[in-house]
Amino acid sequence: MRQSFDLFFASSNNYKYQEAKKILESFGIKLGFFKYDLEEIQSNSLMDIASKKAKDAFLKYKKPVIIEDDGLFINSLDGFPGPYSSYAFKTIGNKGILNLLKNNRKAKFVSIITFCDKKILKSFDGKLEGTISKSQKGKGWGYDPIFIPKNTRKTFAEINNKNELSHRYKALKKFSNWYLQK
Ligand code: IMP
Repeated sequence: MRQSFDLFFASSNNYKYQEAKKILESFGIKLGFFKYDLEEIQSNSLMDIASKKAKDAFLKYKKPVIIEDDGLFINSLDGFPGPYSSYAFKTIGNKGILNLLKNNRKAKFVSIITFCDKKILKSFDGKLEGTISKSQKGKGWGYDPIFIPKNTRKTFAEINNKNELSHRYKALKKFSNWYLQK
């Protein structure tokens, strides 16, 4: 049986989609998946990157879409890797990030969710403060094994309620509030 969806998540990252799907389900929104490697412009602004990707995805699929762009911003590295988080993960990885850090381990995750349809282009942000662990802990995707959310002692990879507190949850909650009243 063909499932009907309220809107679609365009991304090459199935982990992000699975998390976004669960979160939006909790707000009563059914999210489909367009698995698609969106071209990413070089920019220091997650918002600009996200807007461009959302417009491209809408032009390609002609259905209401959301896309997400994220960054891990580390205080002692002046915000690096930030908008270059995907590239940094593919190149130096978690081990490389850990090797760069000394005492100050403060960091934050930022998520930008951008919605695009025929008439509207609109973005929502979610931020989560935390610290970078001293070693990788737990099994998880991306930076999950090294990011410890504020007020916890465990990494994203070790906790079972990531989807109730993450940067993604916060941005999607703002999006849902708007979308359900639209
Ligand atoms: P982009 O938004 O696809 O450019 O990805 C940003 C990078 O941040 C990716 O390499 C992901 O591995 C990483 N990332 C984004 N969100 C998360 C998360 O919730 N957990 C772990 N890593 C993440």
